[in-house]
Amino acid sequence: MLNQKLPDDFLWGGAVSANQCEGAWDIGGKGISTADVAAAGKHGQGRLYTEGIVEGVYYPNHQAIDFYNRYKEDIALFSEMGFKCFRTSIHWTRIFPNGDETEANEEGLAFYDRVFDECLKHGIEPIVTISHYETPLYLVEKYGSWTNRKMIDFYVKLCKTLFERYASKVKYWMTFNEINVITLNPMIAAGIRTDKYDNPEQMMYQAAHYQLVASAKAVKIGREINPDFKIGMMMLYPLSYAETCSPEDNLENMHNMDLHYYFSDVQTRGYYSPKAQKFLERKQIALDITAEDKLDLLAGTVDYIGISYYMSLVTSANPERKIKVKGNMLEGIVNPYLEKSDWEWQIDGVGLRISLNNLYDRYQLPIFIVENGLGAVDEKIEGAMIQDDYRIDYLREHIAHMKEAILTDGVDVMGYTVWGCIDLVSASTGEMKKRYGMIYVDRNDKGEGTLRRERKKSFHWYKNVILSNGSSLD
Ligand code: BG6
Repeated sequence: MLNQKLPDDFLWGGAVSANQCEGAWDIGGKGISTADVAAAGKHGQGRLYTEGIVEGVYYPNHQAIDFYNRYKEDIALFSEMGFKCFRTSIHWTRIFPNGDETEANEEGLAFYDRVFDECLKHGIEPIVTISHYETPLYLVEKYGSWTNRKMIDFYVKLCKTLFERYASKVKYWMTFNEINVITLNPMIAAGIRTDKYDNPEQMMYQAAHYQLVASAKAVKIGREINPDFKIGMMMLYPLSYAETCSPEDNLENMHNMDLHYYFSDVQTRGYYSPKAQKFLERKQIALDITAEDKLDLLAGTVDYIGISYYMSLVTSANPERKIKVKGNMLEGIVNPYLEKSDWEWQIDGVGLRISLNNLYDRYQLPIFIVENGLGAVDEKIEGAMIQDDYRIDYLREHIAHMKEAILTDGVDVMGYTVWGCIDLVSASTGEMKKRYGMIYVDRNDKGEGTLRRERKKSFHWYKNVILSNGSSLD
């Protein structure tokens, strides 16, 4: 099995987001986004979002890795690795600096033309996430971001502009990055400062509904603009296991997973499941859902499911079992069978195979693994290549289990993109030292460094994986 190839059209590649790599935060008419007011957090802590730009505070995303100016060099390196695709996102504030303008910013649109043209020149398919963890700050301050129904129209206008402009360049789209994160971290996912609301839970689920409707409307419009588009949803896949075989632990675990299927059920089926409706009733959450919203949800179901998968967790029904481990915005109990990363994310390759099976059994839609990778501290010795064997081990294990899911279990997986294929700013902590890349970037947590790019050992390993179409993982 391990030496078998994947289908010829399998999309191997890498992934980044605009706000974590572009920099140039105030260049080319760009407005301020929530990512621009996210200060660097400390190890193990979240990020602090300031009210506006505060003098003297360091904002790592402002320069990030300067992809805005270095995209040609970076895409050439991706091409050297043999990428078939490259996933990035659009910085909303490059296109509509405030978010509610009627005219798009031509300089912003032209930048993404250049990026996509460069990809296509190298035979690399651009994969575009429309909204990845940044919201125009103006929309946050003036409208309360996604707590306001008006956001649907602003977002749909953005999508229509992008679909029309890049209709001949981009085929694969995703509407929102990790849409299920809105209830875990409303600020990063949707520009919502929960401390400003009396009933944050009600408001988060309302905002989630507006995002779901906005996504569905975008899918419908995208299909009208170009019927060849493939438009997907994207979720953080939060695999968790019951701690014991007790029915109570398993029931608790099921409820845990249901919090996330809440989103994918709507985006794939076009309506809230009976279980989701009961959940809202139990929580006494009454949503503003119009008859038109229901029609929009039905008309805008997705073509594929994009997932991020990094780790797994464990659930217990026993309240005395303390939460012992965190990771990727989730919390759970330590799994004694698994190793942990430098950031204590529990490494679980088999879990990827289980996740792919779970999703395919449930929806029978193609799945695109658009994020998987290892955030680790790399030791840089001047003049020597980084020997990131730990990253190779992680990727090898996950790719091997992905292959089992495809070749043994029959799951339809469209492609696989390594997260942070080039070192970038961590989303949850703002650190640079949490490196995912197969390409090293000379920059540290204080924003110092030359931004020079260097190939790591994993660069050469992944190149060989792609060249062999997955048949060689050595
Ligand atoms: C995903 C996000 O959840 O995890 C990315 O879509 C993020 O934006 C990635 O970078 C890894 O998380 P972190 O916090 O290590 O950057």
